[in-house]
Amino acid sequence: MIDLSVEIAGVTLPNPVLPASGTYEVAEVHEGFFSPAELGAVINKTIFMNPRTGNPPPRIWETPCGMLNAIGIPSEGLKRFLEEQLPRLRSLGPPVIVSIAGNSIEEWRDLATAVDRSASADMIELDLSCPNLERGFIWASDRRALSEVVAAVVEATALPVISKLSPNVTDISEMAVIAEQAGTAAVSMVNSYLGMAIDIKKRQPALGNITGGLTGPAIRPLAVYSVFTTFQKIGVPIIGIGGIATWRDAVEFLLAGATAVAVGTQNFVNPLAMKEVIQGIAGYVEQVGFPSVRDLVGLAHRQHKQ
Ligand SMILES: Cc1cc2nc3c(=O)[nH]c(=O)nc-3n(C[C@H](O)[C@H](O)[C@H](O)COP(=O)(O)O)c2cc1C
Repeated sequence: MIDLSVEIAGVTLPNPVLPASGTYEVAEVHEGFFSPAELGAVINKTIFMNPRTGNPPPRIWETPCGMLNAIGIPSEGLKRFLEEQLPRLRSLGPPVIVSIAGNSIEEWRDLATAVDRSASADMIELDLSCPNLERGFIWASDRRALSEVVAAVVEATALPVISKLSPNVTDISEMAVIAEQAGTAAVSMVNSYLGMAIDIKKRQPALGNITGGLTGPAIRPLAVYSVFTTFQKIGVPIIGIGGIATWRDAVEFLLAGATAVAVGTQNFVNPLAMKEVIQGIAGYVEQVGFPSVRDLVGLAHRQHKQ
């Protein structure tokens, strides 16, 4: 019997596969494909303090091996999330990760405190790729802001904090080191890459927001590189994200140093993707003769050094 369980900051995940925030709505379109109880963890689309609308359309643009999106994170706001969505997530069975984003340090702190008090979350993920409205940059791209926000949230909650890092920086591994020094219990990487497309019929930017985030298989080698280089520098676990479409892709991330993986864009292409990734990882672990999926984590580094 293959042991698929992994541990992130003291929380045991029954398997290392979870949805990437914003790409899997448990209650809606995916119902009927497979039970979310089979997932390693469940996570909400990033929640903000107050309700907000998203960006103007078009919000999605297909690209070679991926897509650009500029959804803009519409949010029902914290109050409704705590009353309606969080209890639903909790009832599914797997560990619950709550993704939050604040516009100021105070707001981050208040969000974390409220999620902690709900007693329905196992971990908190910080979506650090949203703009810092007070100071005009994204949290994940400024060293001091990153350090301050992670430290503030860590102080505000007893729950393990996962810092979701942006690849739109010179060296994401250095930002991971900063998040670790500020007390994060894990990092997830990567969020989407900034990009844009031009609609040549209209002779204007394709997305209503002009720029968007590139995701999907096109970004996978970039994301694997991020995980590989970061694994050499930090001691906390990594959740690997970026272009995972099949179990082979997921195994790449594990070998590069990810303890768990999240599937994003592929959920829109193949609603059974996460189930297939879980099954495929189990088959691979069995085939190579390891007792546990944990034996794969970071193995490419040992091979690499020999
Ligand atoms: C439509 C869409 C919505 C997303 N919404 C969020 C979000 O609310 N919060 C967040 O942290 N990441 C969000 N992401 C980023 C994903 O969680 C993930 O980091 C990214 O898509 C890369 O993984 P992928 O290539 O497997 O899609 C979103 C991505 C997409 C495509």
